[in-house]
Amino acid sequence: MGLLLVSGSLRTGSTNTEALRAIAGARPSDVLYDGIGALPHFDPDLDVDPVPPAVAELRAAIATADGVLFCTPEYAGELPGSFKNLLDWTVGGGEIYEKPVGWINVAAEGRGAGAHAALRIVLGYVGARIVDDACAAIAVPRTAVDADTATRLVAVADALSRAGGARGTPPATAGGTGR
Ligand SMILES: Cc1cc2nc3c(=O)[nH]c(=O)nc-3n(C[C@H](O)[C@H](O)[C@H](O)COP(=O)(O)O)c2cc1C
Repeated sequence: MGLLLVSGSLRTGSTNTEALRAIAGARPSDVLYDGIGALPHFDPDLDVDPVPPAVAELRAAIATADGVLFCTPEYAGELPGSFKNLLDWTVGGGEIYEKPVGWINVAAEGRGAGAHAALRIVLGYVGARIVDDACAAIAVPRTAVDADTATRLVAVADALSRAGGARGTPPATAGGTGR
């Protein structure tokens, strides 16, 4: 398959989700993940076989993707809690280990730096392969994704796809939840 596109916003009409939808429209192999709201609150006691169905679906989607492209708003200087919850569920599965990942910050210029610094830390912790060419700030108007902006968004996804490569085996520290 192509990329898994993950929005950090649950909001109907989300700018972040619309940006990813524009990418999916231009790149039919990409999949827009829509399960963030169905994930249970992360709890190590639930991270046992069989994991909750929504978690299994997330992990399978990551496992089969060539890469994962994130697009998230900033809430209170940080990642939205529901999105951090999704990221916490990636720790125990290990599917994201060495997976090419990138992100697009669609906030207005100068906004969102705290969220994206946090995202870099979390993705480093889980051992994802951060593709710097696929980490971009592209301000997207809240009204609509215009054609020029869509072209720039798709170029980031193309850069992430080009960076795809073989994965290694998760080290013991990257695959567990510390239990
Ligand atoms: C609870 C809350 C906290 C926010 N905190 C920040 C913030 O710290 N920095 C920022 O740049 N924007 C902040 N915003 C603005 C959002 O990032 C902005 O509304 C963004 O467009 C939401 O993304 P969405 O359209 O994809 O839902 C906040 C919004 C909400 C609702």
